[in-house]
Amino acid sequence: MFCKSTLITVALALLSAATPLPRDDTSLTTGIRIPLQKRGSLKNADGIFNYEKAVRELVKLKNKHRQNLINLEQNVGRDAFPLGAEIKALVSLPASLLGTGKRGAVPLTDQEDDLEWTGPITIGNPGQTFTIDFDTGSSDLWIPVASCKSCQNHTLYDPSKSSDSKKVNGSFEIQYGDGSSASGGRYNDTVTVGGVTAKSQAFAAVSNESSSFTDDPSDGILGLGFPALSNLNVNPFFFTALEQGAAPEGVFAFKLDQSGSELFIGGTNQSLYTGDVEYHALTSGASGFWQIGGASVSVDGKPLASGFETIIDSGSTIITAPLAAAEAFWAGVPGAKVFDKDQGLWSLPCNSSVEVAFSWGGNAWTINFDDFNAGQTEEGSDDCVGALAGGDLGLGNTTWLLGDTFMKSAYTVFSVDTKAVGFAKLA
Ligand SMILES: *[C@@H]1O[C@H](CO)[C@@H](O)[C@H](O)[C@H]1NC(C)=O
Ligand SMILES: *[C@@H]1O[C@H](CO)[C@@H](O)[C@H](O)[C@H]1NC(C)=O
Ligand SMILES: *[C@@H]1O[C@H](CO)[C@@H](O)[C@H](O)[C@H]1NC(C)=O
Ligand SMILES: *[C@@H]1O[C@H](CO)[C@@H](O)[C@H](O)[C@H]1NC(C)=O
Ligand SMILES: *[C@@H]1O[C@H](CO)[C@@H](O)[C@H](O)[C@H]1NC(C)=O
Ligand SMILES: *[C@@H]1O[C@H](CO)[C@@H](O)[C@H](O)[C@H]1NC(C)=O
Ligand SMILES: *[C@@H]1O[C@H](CO)[C@@H](O)[C@H](O)[C@H]1NC(C)=O
Repeated sequence: MFCKSTLITVALALLSAATPLPRDDTSLTTGIRIPLQKRGSLKNADGIFNYEKAVRELVKLKNKHRQNLINLEQNVGRDAFPLGAEIKALVSLPASLLGTGKRGAVPLTDQEDDLEWTGPITIGNPGQTFTIDFDTGSSDLWIPVASCKSCQNHTLYDPSKSSDSKKVNGSFEIQYGDGSSASGGRYNDTVTVGGVTAKSQAFAAVSNESSSFTDDPSDGILGLGFPALSNLNVNPFFFTALEQGAAPEGVFAFKLDQSGSELFIGGTNQSLYTGDVEYHALTSGASGFWQIGGASVSVDGKPLASGFETIIDSGSTIITAPLAAAEAFWAGVPGAKVFDKDQGLWSLPCNSSVEVAFSWGGNAWTINFDDFNAGQTEEGSDDCVGALAGGDLGLGNTTWLLGDTFMKSAYTVFSVDTKAVGFAKLA
């Protein structure tokens, strides 16, 4: 078995060192649909905003993008940083939350489901199945490994049961400053998402993770960002699959909805949208983000800001704007009040039903108020927290991060082939 896998890996290494493989006629001719499950929203089932969960998410998000910049500096150098980007200090949880209940303190059944969009993938030969968080805002794949004592709530990767598994020298560590961290070793193995297979995909196998990951509904993360952001400094899954001719097109797309969410790999699913896809060329240069510029935002048709950059991040729940931009935005929302200054959160009247819309010079993509409303500030309150926070992500003072709250307003298309992000009207 050892010899066989060695031979296969060597053969693949030789092939990938040459020109990219021709697209295999026997492989897929259309893309593949991966149904996604929604898990754990910021709004509890009783309609009240889950403050602790939101703060943990915001801290984690800031530290994720901090790590992206560290990776980018190592892989490409500071010249590739987006304008104004800067590696900031690790962000910590506020003292009031440190050491208190874990993330899973609120049982999942008490929550509406849409914080993360998870779906199945297999790793190994034969395939071992994992539930994965698909993240366009990072570029590594990691899952817990069999030897991990702290990962017992999850499905664990067992390299000894895969004939394609190869241990790779080197280690992996991520830290999120809310006390959560994950570390471990590296492997190469066969990874299949839907029917799209990447052979000898490099990934991190986590052998130690903190409790906040233990309670996470997904086993790990699959990054859909560009190679420049990879902590392992390797081609992420989709790029390996393309190089090996395993996907018909360098395009993937998300439909995020209360029901019937899916990730489509290798093209778009035309039954999920109407009209054309409105594409915008990436402005991220060598940085590796799914970033497009020239954005504007309006509330009830009234323009509030324009000419800013946006990163479309499926690994982020809400929208985050630079603090000054968020202040200007909320000053234009009738009835808005500061809810939590430290975390950059505002509230607005629950019955206001404002229509927040983003545009990049084409259609205006309008967010349902239900999605913009992150829940009542407290029981019996007429005020609800808005799903747009202000904060410094280290990505420059003109860059906004648009997460699921925005992505639910359109069919969202990511093209590696044309280096563009596109939006289409949901069918
Ligand atoms: C497109 O989406 C619809 C609805 O989810 C699904 O039934 C169909 O199978 C998908 N198409 C492909 C090619 O997977
Ligand atoms: C991996 O590490 C082992 C032991 O440290 C060493 O003998 C081996 O040469 C390394 N392999 C590579 C490819 O660096
Ligand atoms: C693992 O994959 C990487 C590319 O992703 C390749 O450079 C490396 O040689 C592979 N290592 C082994 C041991 O197969
Ligand atoms: C796991 O990581 C924690 C810090 O996050 C550390 O205190 C602990 O020693 C590590 N355990 C192992 C087995 O490496
Ligand atoms: C596993 O998850 C459940 C619910 O999410 C939690 O109650 C339990 O403490 C977790 N187990 C470990 C070992 O962390
Ligand atoms: C919203 O509720 C407030 C009282 O909480 C009321 O004064 C106001 O008229 C309501 N607005 C709408 C549009 O229903
Ligand atoms: C962003 O920062 C730059 C340099 O510090 C400054 O000149 C500019 O006015 C700032 N822009 C905004 C929108 O805050």
